[in-house]
Amino acid sequence: MLNDLHSYSAVALDDLFRQIYSSSDGMSELLDEKYPDIRSLEEDVERLHRLPGAVALVIEVDGAPSGYVIIRPRTQARLRHTAELNMGVVPAMQGRRLGSLMLQAALDRVAAERVIEIVYLMVRSDNDPAIRLYRNAGFEQLAVLDRDTKIGDSYRDGILMRKFVRGATR
Ligand SMILES: CC(C)(COP(=O)(O)OP(=O)(O)OC[C@H]1O[C@@H](n2cnc3c(N)ncnc32)[C@H](O)[C@@H]1OP(=O)(O)O)[C@@H](O)C(=O)NCCC(=O)NCCS
Repeated sequence: MLNDLHSYSAVALDDLFRQIYSSSDGMSELLDEKYPDIRSLEEDVERLHRLPGAVALVIEVDGAPSGYVIIRPRTQARLRHTAELNMGVVPAMQGRRLGSLMLQAALDRVAAERVIEIVYLMVRSDNDPAIRLYRNAGFEQLAVLDRDTKIGDSYRDGILMRKFVRGATR
């Protein structure tokens, strides 16, 4: 079942995000960096909810929140037709197509709302499931950012991807 992320408590979302962030180094940001406390998470969810064109969904399996997708519009006046995507599925549920299902539902909603025209995302070049997921959903690779991420002493490349959600013209 898919629900609006905004309908969940900050504590429930913190638990969901924590399961995903703590099991994967695929996210460039650390969760404690992003949300130093529950209040900051709560405020961010409120801010996101007020942004025209934002789409944020949680997928539940047997009543348990098991994944999320956030498509966050940029706030600068000249970039408001663009958005950034971030998503994750809890480790026990990965590989069961929840990611594909959520992503398609979120993109359908973005297209229906007709605010966002372009969705961007960054993915690490070693994150095969995520790259397959995004390619299958119609994202194209724009650039490889060599040594974009540094984990300890080890560098990883980032891939910038983009999808036109509806007719952007030059
Ligand atoms: C990336 C992620 C969201 C994918 O969600 P998911 O529900 O596991 O993915 P799906 O089951 O829908 O599968 C998506 C594609 O990945 C492939 N895939 C799934 N698990 C895989 C694995 N372990 N290795 C390689 N490919 C895999 C699937 O075969 C599918 O491709 P296909 O349609 O061509 O067969 C999820 O694995 C995740 O949350 N990972 C940790 C956090 C993360 O990396 N987030 C993205 C940051 S950019």
